Amino acid sequence: MSSLRAILTAKFSRAFEKQGLDPSYGKVVDSQRPELGQFQCNGALAAAKEARKNPRAIAQAVVEQLSSDPCIDSLSLAGPGFINIALSDAFLAEHISRLAEDERLGSPLPAHPHVVVVDFCGPNVAKPMHVGHLRPTIIGDALQRLMRYLGETVITDNHLGDWGTNMGILINAMRERRPDLPYFDPEKTRSFPEEPPMTVEELEKLYPEATAECKSDPAKMQKALDATYELQNGRPGFVALWKHFVNLSMTELKGDLEKLGVRFDYWLGESFYHGKMGELVDRLETEGKAVDSEGALVVHVAREDDKREIPPLLLRKRGGGYLYGTSDLATLDYRVHEFGAEEIIYVVDQRQELHFEQVFRAARRTGIAAENVSMIHIGFGTVNGKDGRPFRTREGGAARLSYLLAEATEKAMERMDEAGVGRDFDKAEKADVAHKVGLAALKFADLMNHRTSDYVFDIDKFTRFEGKTGPYLLYSAVRIKSILRNAAERGVTTGPLLPPTDAERGLMLLLGKLPDVLAGAREGFAPNYMCDFIYDLAQEFNRFYRDCHILREPDEARRGSWLSLVNIVLAELELVLGLLGMEIPERM
Ligand code: ARG
Repeated sequence: MSSLRAILTAKFSRAFEKQGLDPSYGKVVDSQRPELGQFQCNGALAAAKEARKNPRAIAQAVVEQLSSDPCIDSLSLAGPGFINIALSDAFLAEHISRLAEDERLGSPLPAHPHVVVVDFCGPNVAKPMHVGHLRPTIIGDALQRLMRYLGETVITDNHLGDWGTNMGILINAMRERRPDLPYFDPEKTRSFPEEPPMTVEELEKLYPEATAECKSDPAKMQKALDATYELQNGRPGFVALWKHFVNLSMTELKGDLEKLGVRFDYWLGESFYHGKMGELVDRLETEGKAVDSEGALVVHVAREDDKREIPPLLLRKRGGGYLYGTSDLATLDYRVHEFGAEEIIYVVDQRQELHFEQVFRAARRTGIAAENVSMIHIGFGTVNGKDGRPFRTREGGAARLSYLLAEATEKAMERMDEAGVGRDFDKAEKADVAHKVGLAALKFADLMNHRTSDYVFDIDKFTRFEGKTGPYLLYSAVRIKSILRNAAERGVTTGPLLPPTDAERGLMLLLGKLPDVLAGAREGFAPNYMCDFIYDLAQEFNRFYRDCHILREPDEARRGSWLSLVNIVLAELELVLGLLGMEIPERM
């Protein structure tokens, strides 16, 4: 099963080929001017240039070859050689029926699925998830859902920051505050308390305090670095204390992610690679792939044609100690060899672009990632406040994710009250719907922007029931469900799709685009294509539903055809909402 565009492209390619021209000129695209045609093919211009022929003559020959094709209604020439294409209604209806019967709704499974590792979220221990984690988590989750649907073998991994200097800062801060704790007794090597010496709130409060102290006091920083070193070398008390930090953080993180509806296959944080780094670094050194640079060990990654300076990737500091880059290289090595990863996608802040460039180059140079492994950094823009600066709470801190979620749910509840939604629901159902609506508001507002653009966080706008918002789309899906329930109650049944009238032709054309939209979103790592698509679909559906009174339609065949169409709209809407990580309530 292929998309409408793919079917047309195949036909046009053959027509070009028959004229002795390259088939790639037959590429068909969506029409830029729907009033002139549904699709267009612009290849004649480029083909003419290459063949030194008249573009109109080439286009004319293509038109003559295809105008009697059963899937074509009409072809027209425009300008210097554009071909406008309108499909035959019979073909369109037949195509959409086939799409609806296909359990994959037109997206074929790949013959050879890729093993794709998606690395996203990646919070640091002791730092609660905040607004800055919204984008990587939501975008990463949408991408992994999409790729899974498209049949790739997807592995998600939350690369927790649990092993760096931050840990030493915390250990040292605890030592200063609570020197009496058994973790700091150098004589003691086992039987440490099972209960953590603090709550997660205390841990999260300690972290910024301790970081600030170290920043302003170099001696303290040195102690923290020493503590990090001791931790990494396995000092039992430090390891025991560190485990408490990690457990406290993980429990909280998992709770936040659960609320977001995001799950991971693996949580292989930086510490997981500790033992692996030494081995890898030694190997690279022996093989001469990592070299000495003023006492440190590095991999040179600069290229002659670089337009900017790309510094070497630092693997081992002078005097020992590994770095973020070392652990990322070891992580890559593990993913390639243990998971068989062929594509590794990092949904991480744009500010880490240079880091990933260095790591990816080092992985190639050292042979850790062979040519068949693609490594892709998916950066994203910032979530801003209305003042155009990174979004902060009224108190000035980075807004916590749990706080944003609670705020979204609360706002959703208000909106529901305004719209009279859920008046007769019991408390539990109403809370559940508000949660789903709030989540949809946050996710859709984030995903509808191209990931590289910034956007302004405006919960009032995001939670509206009208306009391009998550709640509007959920509401549309719920409404369609109720239309279908209603029809069923009245005994109206679905029937074969009839060739469309003017009222539903646009809707059918849109439904036929789904496979292209999903493929495009995957190719460009751009969930916003899916957002645009379902928004258009909901709008187009509303137009159709306003003009076509399904239940009152006297012609039974037409009524059945329309009802089938409604089912297909719902199927596509449900699929895409699910890929965007939005849950549809039963009723609203
Ligand atoms: N923990 C890191 C941070 O907060 C993000 C981790 C991203 N993933 C990776 N493999 N480096 O900046």
